[in-house]
Amino acid sequence: MKKLIVSLVVLGFAAAAFAADKKFVIGMSQCNLGEPWRVQMNADVKKAAEKHPNIQVVYKDAQNDTLKQRAQVEEFVASKVDLIIVSPKEAAPLTPPVAEAYKKGVPVIVLDRRVLGSDYTSFIGADNKKIGRAAGKWVVEKLGGRGKLVELKGLMTSTPGQDRNSGFREGLKGSGLEVVFEADMKWLEPDARKEMESALARNPKIDLVYGHNDPGAHGAYLAAKAAGREKDMLFIGIDALPHEGQAYVRQGILAASFEYPTGGSEAIEMALEILGGKKVAKEVTLESHVFTKANVDSGGEWLK
Ligand code: FRU
Repeated sequence: MKKLIVSLVVLGFAAAAFAADKKFVIGMSQCNLGEPWRVQMNADVKKAAEKHPNIQVVYKDAQNDTLKQRAQVEEFVASKVDLIIVSPKEAAPLTPPVAEAYKKGVPVIVLDRRVLGSDYTSFIGADNKKIGRAAGKWVVEKLGGRGKLVELKGLMTSTPGQDRNSGFREGLKGSGLEVVFEADMKWLEPDARKEMESALARNPKIDLVYGHNDPGAHGAYLAAKAAGREKDMLFIGIDALPHEGQAYVRQGILAASFEYPTGGSEAIEMALEILGGKKVAKEVTLESHVFTKANVDSGGEWLK
C-alpha cells in the first residue's frame, strides 16, 4: 500500500513537472500598430506574458489591412499555435477565419473589436455602448441640454464605432442637443482633421465635438485651432491613455476623455487558464473611468 502511494506521488510530481515544462505558443494578430492605443495593447500583452516563461507570444501586425489580418489568423492555424489572440480590424471579414480556427479546436480570444456570431472562445472588451451613453449624458449635462454637436465616428464597420454612435445617441435622447455634422474618420487623426474642416466650413456655430477616440478628438481640435475657433467649442474623446487622452485633459485640449482599457493583461491571464484546461467565460466586460480636469490628477471616476 505504502509503495503504491509513494509511486502515485512520484507520478503526480512527474505530471506536474511535465505540465510546468510544457511551452505554449500564442499567436497575436493586432489590426494595426500605427495607433498609440494598439501599441499600448501589445505592451500590456508583453508585460503580462513575460511573467510566464512557459508561454511565447508571436506578434503579427496587420497594418490596418483586413485581408492581411485574415491571412494572419489562417497562418497561425497552419503553424499549429496553441492559442490565438486577435484584435480585429472589422467584424464581418474576420468572422470566417476566426470561426474556422475555433472549429478546428484552436482556442481564440477576441479582443476589443468583435467578430459576428459566437464561433470563438471568449471576447474581452469594455462596453462601448455604455461609454457612448455616458458620453452623451455627460454632454447633455455640460451644455445644459442645448447646443450643436459634431460627431466624428470610428470605423463604422467595426463594432466599437457602431456602439459608441448608438450609445451616444441614446444618451442625448430627450435633450435639445442637435448633431449638425457627422462623419466616419475611421479612428484616424488626419481623417478627423479633414472632416472637421468640412464641419467648420458648414457650421458657424459648434458647441462640442465628440470624437469616438482621442486621436479623432485631437484632430478636430487641430482643425478648429487652425481656423481660430478652438476656444468656441469643447472636445471630448475616448481611450484616455495616460500619455495621450489624459494628457490632453490636463492641457485643457479635451474637456473629457473616457477610458477604453486594452484588455491586454486580461487576455494573457485568460490564455493561461484556457491552456491549463480551465473553462472560461464567453464574455468579459472591462470597466472604464471618465477623466476631466477636476479628477484627472486623482485617477478619474468610475463610469456608472
Ligand atoms: C485604435 C482604436 C482606439 C479605439 C479602438 C476601438 O485602433 O481606434 O483608439 O478605442 O481602436 O477599437
